Amino acid sequence: MNFVTNREAALRPACALRPAAEMTMWFTVLAGLVVLSFSYVKAFCPHLPADCVYILRSLGLGFRLLKYRKRKPIYSVLDCFLDAVKRHPAKTFLHFEGREYSYEEVDRQSNKVARALQAEARLKEGDTVALFLPNEPGFVWTWLGLAKLGCPAALLNFNIRSKSLLHCFSCCGAKVIITCTELQDAVEEILPTLREQGISVYLMSDKCGVQGINPLSEKISKASDQPLSRDLRANIHIRTTALYIYTSGTTGLPKAAVVTHERVWAASFLQAASGVTSEDVFYINLPLYHSAGFLIGLCGSIERGNTVVLRRKFSASQFWDDCRKNNVTVMQYIGETLRYLCNMPKKDNEKNHKVRIAIGNGLRTDVWTEFLNRFGDIKIRELYAATEGNIGFINYTSKIGAVGRVNFVHRFLFPYTLIKFDIEKEEPVRNSQGLCIEASTGETGLLVGKITHRSPFVGYAGNKQQTEKKRLSDVLVKGDLYFNTGDLLRFDKDNFVYFQDRVGDTFRWKGENVATSEVADILTMAHCIQEANVYGVKVEGHEGRIGMAAVTLREGEDFDCSDSYRHVVNYLPAYARPRFIRVQPCLEMTGTFKMKKVKLVEEGFNPSLITDPLFFLDLEKKKYVPLTEEIYKAITLKEIKL
Ligand SMILES: *[C@@H]1O[C@H](CO)[C@@H](O)[C@H](O)[C@H]1NC(C)=O
Ligand SMILES: *[C@@H]1O[C@H](CO)[C@@H](O)[C@H](O)[C@H]1NC(C)=O
Repeated sequence: MNFVTNREAALRPACALRPAAEMTMWFTVLAGLVVLSFSYVKAFCPHLPADCVYILRSLGLGFRLLKYRKRKPIYSVLDCFLDAVKRHPAKTFLHFEGREYSYEEVDRQSNKVARALQAEARLKEGDTVALFLPNEPGFVWTWLGLAKLGCPAALLNFNIRSKSLLHCFSCCGAKVIITCTELQDAVEEILPTLREQGISVYLMSDKCGVQGINPLSEKISKASDQPLSRDLRANIHIRTTALYIYTSGTTGLPKAAVVTHERVWAASFLQAASGVTSEDVFYINLPLYHSAGFLIGLCGSIERGNTVVLRRKFSASQFWDDCRKNNVTVMQYIGETLRYLCNMPKKDNEKNHKVRIAIGNGLRTDVWTEFLNRFGDIKIRELYAATEGNIGFINYTSKIGAVGRVNFVHRFLFPYTLIKFDIEKEEPVRNSQGLCIEASTGETGLLVGKITHRSPFVGYAGNKQQTEKKRLSDVLVKGDLYFNTGDLLRFDKDNFVYFQDRVGDTFRWKGENVATSEVADILTMAHCIQEANVYGVKVEGHEGRIGMAAVTLREGEDFDCSDSYRHVVNYLPAYARPRFIRVQPCLEMTGTFKMKKVKLVEEGFNPSLITDPLFFLDLEKKKYVPLTEEIYKAITLKEIKL
């Protein structure tokens, strides 16, 4: 049976169960559900058994979280790691570039780091430390070392530079930053400002000639590897900040989401909930600075006590060889990575591997089908949730395309709803009393989750304005408060939940909403197109924005004007067709493989400003034609009708 959970939904019931009355109610509900699930009901409610398994598993994990919540002193993921070290010290915890590190080795190394930092940086409980490190074992033991000192870690994205880096660093209030030689240049660039602010910079290296950057490696190797006292983190409780994780927007500067210990637990349960065991080998190829790689991947593996194969970065060409070599059984995916795997040339041994589960989000149905056809029977655990959000779903039935199900227990405990949304104004539709309007079944709406004690929204560090922007009040009644997910979803009549788009990834043209991801799926079906990034651009004198796509071509292919035209016209309604195509050598991505759109939108479609080849969908010639200055002029003069 397909089973389930989701990061918040499944795990949240945990924090929920409080007084005895509530418990009793719960058991009644539960008992009712179990009884109902007997097979004759199956005929009428085919999804009920799956719903029940989901609820039961969720409750199991929920009770565990409840236990952890009450435990004094706190039982954190670090304590879970220390228990794993006791249980199986010699077991491999990390595999990295051909080297293995046992649980015990990682533990000892983290003791050394903690001691070196304690002596050098005079760190004490509660001091935030920014980690600016790539995916490597040092990331893991430095974080563990900080946790042993009771210090929250801010996980900086190692791709960001200068202003952005400074912004991320400042908003978490850290006084210390730790980096490595590979990223030293980026830190040197902002060093004057850091020094002005009295920030200490530590480098994972034996020496450094730059004033103001302190080498740390020698101090670490000389430090004792003996365990640190628990007293160092005596004041930490389940709702203190464990981490700051930056949400990678496709727009604007990143925001630091506050992640409490409770939230770390909840997210780490996702592996357990997906059926991952302690025998599994978990492949992390996503950046550790995001929740997917760090919370679901790393913390999840600690919770399970399994082995992690860590990679510096995702590589489509190395992927399956890596999996075979390391006996990987569980993989993670996000956004486009499965598409990249499907775009690789076919090989005979593609199904020869041990991967049995894939956990992630953002999978499109076309890719999913091809992925299974090519790489064999892998269970896909698609989930919907946001780092900072207070609501989530997981795909626990075999409904293709659905990210989850509306489940009344879940909804009762964590009230959420879909509200009508105005794509043009990018705000919820409100009625004459100023309240939002719930979307009807089958209609796309904005997902909002009620902010309660059970499902809190902690917000972003040092960013009141952004935090406020995510809070929505007067939703269903005056004075209520909801978390605005910024995601557009749809519930169908059988209660399946479909992810439609992110606000901003949908644009409006001729009064119709265009979901960019759907258009991209069609474009990539054209044989010459490898990847497509779809967005809307403004045209003088027109309402809304017209469709445009930046594409990359398959190796050895030219842009096929007729074939692409045929695909677009056959599969897309007129308003959704990209009228402009921009051919690029590669598409710009964020750290989590989301495509960057803002710059493209601003650059528009003016051939005298853009050097990439541009094409225009010509309805008369029935193909795409090169976008010349003449055509451009004719469009702006409205001689060509759009
Ligand atoms: C993978 O599994 C095979 C067979 O079970 C074993 O011989 C091999 O040593 C394993 N490789 C690693 C890296 O654990
Ligand atoms: C949900 O999971 C099932 C079974 O693993 C799969 O068939 C389906 O495609 C998944 N849906 C999505 C959106 O991934």
